[in-house]
Amino acid sequence: MGKEIIGRGAEAVIILENNLVIKDRVSKSYRIKEIDEKIRKQRTKAEKKLLEKASKIINAPDPFPLENNFQIKMPFIEGEKISEILNSLSVKEQKEICKIAGQEIAKLHDAEIIHGDLTTSNMILGTSCGFFNSQPRSLRIKWFPALAKSLTVPASQRQEVVEGGSNKKIPSGAGGRELVNVGEPKIFFIDFGLGFISNKVEDKAVDLHLLKQALEAKHFENWKILFEEIEKGYAKSKDSEKVLERLKAVEKRGRYK
Ligand SMILES: Nc1ncnc2c1ncn2[C@@H]1O[C@H](COP(=O)(O)OP(=O)(O)O)[C@@H](O)[C@H]1O
Ligand SMILES: [Mg+2]
Repeated sequence: MGKEIIGRGAEAVIILENNLVIKDRVSKSYRIKEIDEKIRKQRTKAEKKLLEKASKIINAPDPFPLENNFQIKMPFIEGEKISEILNSLSVKEQKEICKIAGQEIAKLHDAEIIHGDLTTSNMILGTSCGFFNSQPRSLRIKWFPALAKSLTVPASQRQEVVEGGSNKKIPSGAGGRELVNVGEPKIFFIDFGLGFISNKVEDKAVDLHLLKQALEAKHFENWKILFEEIEKGYAKSKDSEKVLERLKAVEKRGRYK
């Protein structure tokens, strides 16, 4: 299988090779070589550690051991970037996704992980997971009817799959195993390049503030109700009240800056 560049950010090139993603922090010619290497090495190591920690708590790609100071190798998350699909979903679906995102962020924050770049571009709505990876594409679960459009299976079958819920069996070839959680969308968080460890209410509030701004900018039609859903999901965090209170202060500060 060949290599394919699937992303190019400010710091890194993202390469897809054999169903693995390689995030390669490229050198910057404006930096002195020694410093450049030190920075890239540090950031690679830091992001790998955060991914490792996060992937034990939420859906995030669990990185492989580092083979190279500047590259993180991790599983490819098959799915749709939330930034790219959210606006095309029904409001009910949009709300559902945001509530789950809020719950997942609560888990991260309770584990003292600050993502640092919570935008909908760094969230992937997974369309395959676990043993589904070994199923033909036509059987993989698409949670939302709006996404099911791209499936090649006939509508009748598709309906069965989409409505499968948690107690339907795979029709054939999977040993009759129960589908676990197929009724629920799975949100994967990627890109912990700006992340860090902190248990400060302030850091958590700023993390949420960035997400609120991202919703406002990219999903402006419903951003207010969508952020309310994030807050509802986030209420599961042990510090949610303090963090959401602090968020108001962060916003005020932003306005008068
Ligand atoms: N594990 C992954 N699975 C699928 N796509 C990924 C994965 N990691 C990165 N990508 C893709 O590459 C893009 C850039 O990766 P990201 O880690 O967000 O880097 P950057 O710091 O440049 O934003 C993402 O928006 C996503 O499309
Ligand atoms: Mg990114």
